[in-house]
Amino acid sequence: MSLYITRRLPDAALRNIPADLTWRMWPEAGVPIPRAELLGAAADATALVTLVSERVDADLLAAAPALRVVANMAVGVDNIDLAACRARGVLVTNTPDVLTETTADLAWALLLAAARRVVEGQKLIEAGGWGAWHPLFMTGQDVHSATLGVIGAGRIGGAVLRRGAGFGMRLVYHNRRRSPELEAATGAAYRSLNELMAESDHIVVCAPLTAETRGLIGARELALMKPTAVFVNVARGPVVDEDALVAALRVGRPWAAGLDVFVREPIAPDHPLLGLPNVVATPHVGSASVQTRVAMARLAVDNALAVLRGDGPLTPVG
Ligand code: DGY
Repeated sequence: MSLYITRRLPDAALRNIPADLTWRMWPEAGVPIPRAELLGAAADATALVTLVSERVDADLLAAAPALRVVANMAVGVDNIDLAACRARGVLVTNTPDVLTETTADLAWALLLAAARRVVEGQKLIEAGGWGAWHPLFMTGQDVHSATLGVIGAGRIGGAVLRRGAGFGMRLVYHNRRRSPELEAATGAAYRSLNELMAESDHIVVCAPLTAETRGLIGARELALMKPTAVFVNVARGPVVDEDALVAALRVGRPWAAGLDVFVREPIAPDHPLLGLPNVVATPHVGSASVQTRVAMARLAVDNALAVLRGDGPLTPVG
């Protein structure tokens, strides 16, 4: 039995590893393991702890004949070919719950920052552009009392909606299926995607990336938004047609965007989205608080250990 961890994790995440287990870890925290190295490391691994940067596909599985579990340190599993894992009897786990509130906080940080032009304001001060006070200087859009639309009503979507209640917002959501539990817990009303795009004052995308949600929001959907709306994405870049989003933001519909995720990450510094004054961007840090990242790392390792011990996985996918 052996465990391979594809990135240097904080010590606190490693403390449950038994002394008699053979295990290794890629020594870098900030540099992903090269693919060839990963294929080699997987050769005798019974368990892999992976990050979203590692592609777990048929080739990797073929290189890892003893593999029993892939424990992803993320709630999203779009880096993993789930069907290929299933076909080989390899379990997949993720890290739900521990990151829900932290990711919802970031969605709100982006919503407020984009609506109230926080980053633009700082840039303006730094450039010496703060002149005389005038009535419409740096005016943004209200968030309180507006209608908040959330696309993807899982745990994170629910947590984003709950925060909206504190801002006195009307709440609507769109999801593959209606969720009576979510409606009871938040008072949010279900809408079709088109209805939500047109009715919401601000929209937050929380839907996982799947074959169904890839490109879910394109030029047609964006054109339905109000010209005063803020569009936030904390899910995955490919859920949105990025070229269409650039074009839409250029003409101010939506009014602004707060984006934590992009089609290609890291996004190139000269990407057209970053040149737009109405975009606030963060580098895929939805779950990035110290407490949450340690909890995610620990849960990923504990999932791998649970399977190696012969217990069921703690948080299986599917
Ligand atoms: C997740 O958990 O899916 C986050 O996006 C981290 O990658």
